[in-house]
Amino acid sequence: MTAPANESLTGPVMCVVGARPNFMKMAPILRALAAHTPPMPALLVHTGQHYDQGMSGQLFDDLGLPLPDLNLEVGAGSHAVQTAEVMRRFEPALDEHRPSCVVVVGDVNSTLACTLVAAKKGVPVVHVEAGLRSYDRKMPEEINRVVTDQLADRLYTTERSAEANLRLEGVPGDRVCFAGNVMIDSLLSNLPKARAAADTLRAHGADASLVAHGAGYGLVTLHRPSNVDDEATLRALLCVLAEVAARLPLVFALHPRTRNNIDRFALNGLMDPSRTAVLPPQGYLEMLGLMAKATLVLTDSGGLQEETTALGVPCLTLRENTERPITIEQGTNTLVGRDRAAILNGLEGVLSGRGKRGRVPEFWDGHAAQRIAADLWRWLPRAPVHAG
Ligand code: UD1
Repeated sequence: MTAPANESLTGPVMCVVGARPNFMKMAPILRALAAHTPPMPALLVHTGQHYDQGMSGQLFDDLGLPLPDLNLEVGAGSHAVQTAEVMRRFEPALDEHRPSCVVVVGDVNSTLACTLVAAKKGVPVVHVEAGLRSYDRKMPEEINRVVTDQLADRLYTTERSAEANLRLEGVPGDRVCFAGNVMIDSLLSNLPKARAAADTLRAHGADASLVAHGAGYGLVTLHRPSNVDDEATLRALLCVLAEVAARLPLVFALHPRTRNNIDRFALNGLMDPSRTAVLPPQGYLEMLGLMAKATLVLTDSGGLQEETTALGVPCLTLRENTERPITIEQGTNTLVGRDRAAILNGLEGVLSGRGKRGRVPEFWDGHAAQRIAADLWRWLPRAPVHAG
């Protein structure tokens, strides 16, 4: 960390990451802060919500993220325990480093926890990817989004619908800035370095027929508690995926939550190894390569809905709702829930060449982080000073 370059900044910009989807959002922001004229000093805090090499360390390497200045090492726990533990460990870090603001991204527990601490300490909170709403409070992320946006002082949005959501919740319009999608900044800058899908599959010993005949494959990721924590639900989903696999070979990158539940419920037998390559969590460059070459992506991830839209790859989202409606309206995304007929129908559409191609939304252009850095520089001197 270097000293603030300009008196507008009273301290570093404290950037918080915690879980896998945060890393690709923060990497371009850190680069844009450093590249700003004058540079804006940053301090990177990793809460340690995700801690495995596959879920965290590998992504730091792939994205060229600097090692965190601080790692709070909170690890796993119930929502309450994880959130509380991040708060407990983040407070002394704020006291020690006295940042000019705290930047949080996305909607994970670490986003919420650090927002709560900073807001109560009177440190301005900046939320990147603000205003997305699924309107489904059963999703822990929705609660994290709503609370974070109420407390944030500067809110950067990725799509126009987010501004309308924030307005409905009474967030003053002058706090909100449409900056575009930082995750797509990462995607565009890393695509040339993406690892070839065939190499990734081969490295994991995937069945040769999946790699060799070039008939295409569907890429699957599943990790939402609503899809994978209940035995009957997970079983039903794996059964539909087996039907999909009979038509289109699948590559399934397994999140640890899903891996644990498949083992716990003894559902491994539902995945036919000759039609489904089961992979551990993949690095960022591996996932980009796998997504870019996929015939179809089946997912419950938020990020993949956006990345497939940017790549022009059809995506079937195994959820009832999405907080990212632009991926449906303009992009390649279709909501199919857990409905067997809708999933198989979506598959047939893609296989018969009727998959959505879509177009790339406004400001998903690789320059969102630059816009954020430029705006932050102008905004910070007039950031509200709260009682600490
Ligand atoms: C979290 C985010 C979710 C995001 C997802 C991406 C919240 C509320 N949820 O969900 O929005 O889409 O990350 O992955 O913040 N585990 C490991 N190794 C790790 C991390 C987790 O084995 O490195 C295990 C944990 O022990 C736990 C499970 O995976 O059993 C879930 O981890 P957790 O951080 O609770 O949430 P995610 O489901 O990953």
